[in-house]
This record gives sequence, structure tokens and C-alpha cells, in this order.
Amino acid sequence: MTMNRTLVLLKPDAVARGLVGEILGRFERRQITPVALELRTLDRATAELHYAEHVGKSFYEPTIAFMTGGPLVAAVLEGPDGTWEIVRAMMGATNSAAAAPGTIRGDFATLMNRNLIHGSDSAESAAREIAVFFPSLV
Ligand code: CDP
Ligand code: MG
Repeated sequence: MTMNRTLVLLKPDAVARGLVGEILGRFERRQITPVALELRTLDRATAELHYAEHVGKSFYEPTIAFMTGGPLVAAVLEGPDGTWEIVRAMMGATNSAAAAPGTIRGDFATLMNRNLIHGSDSAESAAREIAVFFPSLV
């Protein structure tokens, strides 16, 4: 697995609100481009695998329900080394209410649990998550 790729999910709220083009466009304009891209509705098993680190937390069940409740866009984005970190910076803080203006969450969201986008939080997470969503790329 190369270190210049990361997994992004445009969550069901992003799809429902018609923000897919806006969000992907921000990455494309920065020359961080999709190498895999798919609209899909997650089954529970995939959502559980993806959010395994959060099992038992108060927000776990609502998050699984939300992530499986409608179509999302799964993408592997490619850019320079450390692309996962650039993507995280462009996403903004997890709690959208605190996310800086200019970030995706800071420009388009206000809630912790409707924060539009997931991005891998390390090179190791990126490798693991890409394998979950796009095993043929690994
Ligand atoms: O998505 P990110 O990596 O920024 O945050 P996380 O801490 O890995 O949490 C995963 C997801 O769970 C968040 O993006 C939120 O959708 C949700 N969450 C929540 O609803 N309430 C919290 N207190 C923490 C997370
Ligand atoms: Mg996370």
C-alpha cells in the first residue's frame, strides 16, 4: 500500500444535501484526486469493521445507524505523501460547530453527528480502511 492514498467517505448527509460535487471538487482543485469512487449503502458488518475503534462508546450505535441509513460515497483519494493529513486538515474538526471556516465541516455543517465526511486519521488507518472498502486496490 502506498502512503499517498487515503480513504474518504462522503457520509449520507453529504449525499442527501447534494454536496458530493462541492466536496470532491475541493480535493480535485488541490490535486488530490480519486483513484476509486463508488456510491454505496453500507451494510452493518462493513460499518462495524470501519468504526471498530469506537465500539462501546455512547455515539457508536447512532453512528452505525446513520452510516447505514442511506447511500454514501466511498473514495480513495491520491496525492502527495501524507495525503491523509492534508485531507484531515481540509475536513476540519470532528465537531462541526468548532470547525474552522474554510474547512469542509466549518463551511457546511454545524453538528457533531452530521459532519459530512470521514477521512483516515493516519497512514496505518488509511491502509486498513482502503482494504475494508476497496480490497481490490490493496
Ligand atoms: O470522524 P473523525 O475521525 O473526525 O471523528 P471520530 O472521533 O473518529 O468519530 C467518528 C464519528 O463518530 C464522527 O465523525 C461523528 O460522526 C461520530 N461522533 C459522534 O457522533 N459524537 C461524538 N462525540 C464523537 C463522534
Ligand atoms: Mg476517526
